[in-house]
Amino acid sequence: MAGYYAIAGPLLRLLDAETAHGLAIGALKRGVVPRPAPFEDPCLRIRLWGMEFANPVGLAAGFDKDAEAVDALLGQGFGYLEVGGVTPRPQPGNPRPRLFRLPADRAVINRMGFNSQGLDAVARRLAKRGAGIVGVNLGANADSADAADDYVAGVKALAGQADYLVVNISSPNTPGLRALKDRARLANLLDRVVRARAAAAPGKRPPLLLKIAPDLTADDKRDIADVALEAGIDGLIATNTTLERPAMLSDPRRAEAGGLSGQPLLGPSTRVLAEMYRLTGGRLPLIGVGGVESGLDAYAKIRAGASLVQLYTALVYHGPGLVNRIKRDLAGQLRADGFATIAEAVGADHR
Ligand SMILES: Cc1cc2nc3c(=O)[nH]c(=O)nc-3n(C[C@H](O)[C@H](O)[C@H](O)COP(=O)(O)O)c2cc1C
Repeated sequence: MAGYYAIAGPLLRLLDAETAHGLAIGALKRGVVPRPAPFEDPCLRIRLWGMEFANPVGLAAGFDKDAEAVDALLGQGFGYLEVGGVTPRPQPGNPRPRLFRLPADRAVINRMGFNSQGLDAVARRLAKRGAGIVGVNLGANADSADAADDYVAGVKALAGQADYLVVNISSPNTPGLRALKDRARLANLLDRVVRARAAAAPGKRPPLLLKIAPDLTADDKRDIADVALEAGIDGLIATNTTLERPAMLSDPRRAEAGGLSGQPLLGPSTRVLAEMYRLTGGRLPLIGVGGVESGLDAYAKIRAGASLVQLYTALVYHGPGLVNRIKRDLAGQLRADGFATIAEAVGADHR
């Protein structure tokens, strides 16, 4: 795998970022990307929401928006995948170019704006998938009159197909979406999606998670923690991309509009994660995402309060062989600190 990417990676990076991404999805779909030898370590197993994760390293939303390459991606060693964001009706997203690499900063800026084939296409594909844990990230159509209706539609359409569902109110490229974080609107939204899930058939009521932005005030974070606990959702994902441009950025493309992901997001997103762990008293499972590119980064998120982690941007720079390297290094870190399991290390920094 590492050898394959040593050739394919630099070639892909010569192309426009979105063209390269399309080729990577196409290659995965056709089964021409070699599968690495599986790296398994019992210390990486974690049980959450009644599911057994072989390891806590997942693929973040946005990579396989339309669930086109689910089985091939699971074969790359991820413990689980999150497909989407998916909008109720198909929509093209923003005009291209809308995805930019910032190699000097090991970062990406995107303003995709929820390009999506829609709920029906994703439901059809998920119905045919093989084994493995697959969550679905739900979005709202750009021309939707009430975004809350769109999340409810997503829950109804996919409760039977998804192992977990994510109410994503943190994508920065759909005008008005991030305003759903405001206390009263969020309480109403979560109440509606929780009721939509309760209406699904027994055995088809997946955990509901809320994905939050890194760009939140102290009041926002307190409100979100309170409302999430009151609504009875099952977890939080921290964080989506940032609209901030940290001073450390050196790549000329830092001026592009959109959400920034990758290495510069590691510190800010881990701080938000730690704060949400503190504000929820460790009572809500958290998924940590933002800038993970090593076993040490994943371990830092777990110690800050994450039960699971995810990554996207690091794959652009390091290729899929990174997944098994992270797992091996993470297992080493756990053992070095005397932890027998991931669960023992979750939130260790707070004790
Ligand atoms: C091109 C691109 C598209 C994305 N699309 C979505 C999306 O549809 N829904 C979502 O919740 N997050 C989306 N994200 C955000 C990622 O899931 C993740 O939260 C963020 O990139 C930080 O992780 P990273 O630094 O490992 O990339 C997208 C990110 C990128 C780079």
